Amino acid sequence: MRSPARILVTGATGAVGSAVQRALDAAGYETYGVSRRGGTGERQYAWRIGREAVPDALRGPWTAAVHCAADTRWNLPTERAAEANIAPLRALLSAVGPETHFIHLSSSYVTGLEGTFASPSPDAYRNSYEWSKAAAERLLRSERESADIVRFPIVIGARSDGRLDRYSGFFWLPSALCSGAVPALVGDEKALLDMVSTDDVADHIVRTVAGGPPPGHRLSVLGRGDLAQRVDEVFDTILDSLNSWRAEAGVARLDHLPFVTPDQWNRFYLPFAEQYLDRAQLQRVTAFRAYQGYLSVTEPFAVTDRVADTAPVLHDSIRRWAETHSASARRVPRPWGA
Ligand SMILES: NC(=O)c1ccc[n+]([C@@H]2O[C@H](COP(=O)([O-])OP(=O)(O)OC[C@H]3O[C@@H](n4cnc5c(N)ncnc54)[C@H](OP(=O)(O)O)[C@@H]3O)[C@@H](O)[C@H]2O)c1
Repeated sequence: MRSPARILVTGATGAVGSAVQRALDAAGYETYGVSRRGGTGERQYAWRIGREAVPDALRGPWTAAVHCAADTRWNLPTERAAEANIAPLRALLSAVGPETHFIHLSSSYVTGLEGTFASPSPDAYRNSYEWSKAAAERLLRSERESADIVRFPIVIGARSDGRLDRYSGFFWLPSALCSGAVPALVGDEKALLDMVSTDDVADHIVRTVAGGPPPGHRLSVLGRGDLAQRVDEVFDTILDSLNSWRAEAGVARLDHLPFVTPDQWNRFYLPFAEQYLDRAQLQRVTAFRAYQGYLSVTEPFAVTDRVADTAPVLHDSIRRWAETHSASARRVPRPWGA
């Protein structure tokens, strides 16, 4: 009798890993989830990959390993980003055998500012997160003869109801719109802001596992590509969704914020802010600077697997965010002023 396929899923308590593990379970695989702190439920293990030895329960052999674990913060110093996103991959590669189908999750943004993940220089990327994810892809290609690499852009919730197990990164935006943390939207309103649902990634992983390991390095890029929503459409969707929830909650509508170009922002708003705003306001304004590079992408990602329309998913995901973060979603923005 053949034993069932055993699959290791790292980052299983995260936004993506939790959806991937659920989808693999539903497809009939025997999955083992790993995270730093360990999740609740069956076959969930704590293992700080790269810092601790492999727990006995997680010794192979594995049919497949799906590496979703990462630290997605953009502001880590490069050494810490390397510890967070390169060292765990190296440790995982030595823990699983060459017969294991290795599937590595990456970001569409690993091509950084120069359109390639090949540069070792942090200056070629928007931030240390992108740099470390690009370095991880290079490490994987040099260490293993066969692997799947799956890149995708911003992740939003489930297609059925917008559910997400963890909110990070991008969901700072609805929060910032409700708190009034930003006075204007800095970017190119006609730029592309590509997104995928957790289901798009999870379904792709299930198909990839079912197909078995590739003969070499296989790259998939998920997303909408040139059909991605434009930045102004994304903000309209976010605002519509927040305002429909706020109307039902009896909270005042949010107004549209003006768009300003990065050039206008850096030349006019920022020098003004630095002169006149208090420390807390200034901190919020400068935190927003990290998003500029993501709201100005005019070249579509070269997708290999185009996903279905994400606009309704974004609407539902924001609504779901409001339901689960009602204190933040209810806030009334404070007007800006010196
Ligand atoms: N979210 C996005 O918009 C997005 C976009 C493009 C690509 N990606 C990629 O998709 C993957 C999943 O991202 P995500 O958004 O799901 O991240 P997330 O929600 O922040 O979850 C990260 C997961 O990784 C675990 N983890 C981190 N470092 C670990 C370590 N050293 N050892 C063991 N577990 C560790 C965390 O465990 P704890 O919960 O215990 O901390 C958590 O389960 C990543 O490769 C990311 O680069 C994400």
